[in-house]
Amino acid sequence: MTRPGATGPLLDVTGLGVRSAGGHDLVSGLTFGIEPGSRLGLIGESGSGKSLTALAIMGLLPPGMAASGSIVLDVPGAGPAQIVGAAERRLRGVRGRAASVVFQEPLTALDPLMKVGRQLAEPIRRRRGLRGAALRAAVADALAEVRLPEPGRIARAYPHEISGGQRQRVAIAMALACEPALLIADEPTTALDVTVQAEVLALLDGLVAARGMALLFISHDLAVVSGITDRILVLKDGRAVESGTARQVVNAPSHPYTRALVAGARHLDSALDWKAR
Ligand SMILES: Nc1ncnc2c1ncn2[C@@H]1O[C@H](COP(=O)(O)OP(=O)(O)OP(=O)(O)O)[C@@H](O)[C@H]1O
Ligand SMILES: [Mg+2]
Repeated sequence: MTRPGATGPLLDVTGLGVRSAGGHDLVSGLTFGIEPGSRLGLIGESGSGKSLTALAIMGLLPPGMAASGSIVLDVPGAGPAQIVGAAERRLRGVRGRAASVVFQEPLTALDPLMKVGRQLAEPIRRRRGLRGAALRAAVADALAEVRLPEPGRIARAYPHEISGGQRQRVAIAMALACEPALLIADEPTTALDVTVQAEVLALLDGLVAARGMALLFISHDLAVVSGITDRILVLKDGRAVESGTARQVVNAPSHPYTRALVAGARHLDSALDWKAR
């Protein structure tokens, strides 16, 4: 199997394993790389290990789960960091700067008891050292950048006072506030209705391109993944079964599981031209 994402110095995952507290191998022998500014799609059915892979990269596996193998993330200004086995203190320096995540459910990233503007201000303050009016202006800019209307009203709202699509835009703004080199998006639009999904995907696509970020985009939807990424890695039962360019995987899937995915993908042709829409 070719190495998806080539020998990328931004993220280098080699022989990644994730074992549950009960001793089950949930992810095994996973190897891939992501170069700066490139995009990799991770696809597979529910339970195939996509989210655990994302969590392992961030050093955020649930308690009791253990990662093995190697995950090296290049931290801007600080150089390569080994995530597997790293201490929490070291991981805090990696999260945000090297990589940040947008999860399926935006409430995961948001504190329900804190107004949106205050939450967003925290990473911006930490990253850019702003205070007072300059910080408030940067929060308004960050909300405007994710195309939120009335950024002032949104900033003063609690997460439950805005719509699901608006919450996901806020979560994207939070993830971008640290100016990560790699954005991990784990099913970022699955919880949204179809029209909002398309808008949020287009927003993500544009922001990743504008900032020259690398993207690890996770989904069970081949049509969505092939529209937004260049290369695809197919996971099944915690193992990579296929990888290649998005077009290769869609046009000439070699593994039976990928063939079934392709056959089952709805609106695939239109999705391949999604960027042109
Ligand atoms: N906290 C946990 N404790 C025990 N097992 C878990 C835990 N989280 C995930 N698993 C198991 O690990 C496997 C992979 O889970 P993971 O969440 O990575 O799947 P996924 O590919 O993201 O699926 P989905 O598409 O449904 O989000 C599954 O079998 C799941 O049941
Ligand atoms: Mg998942």
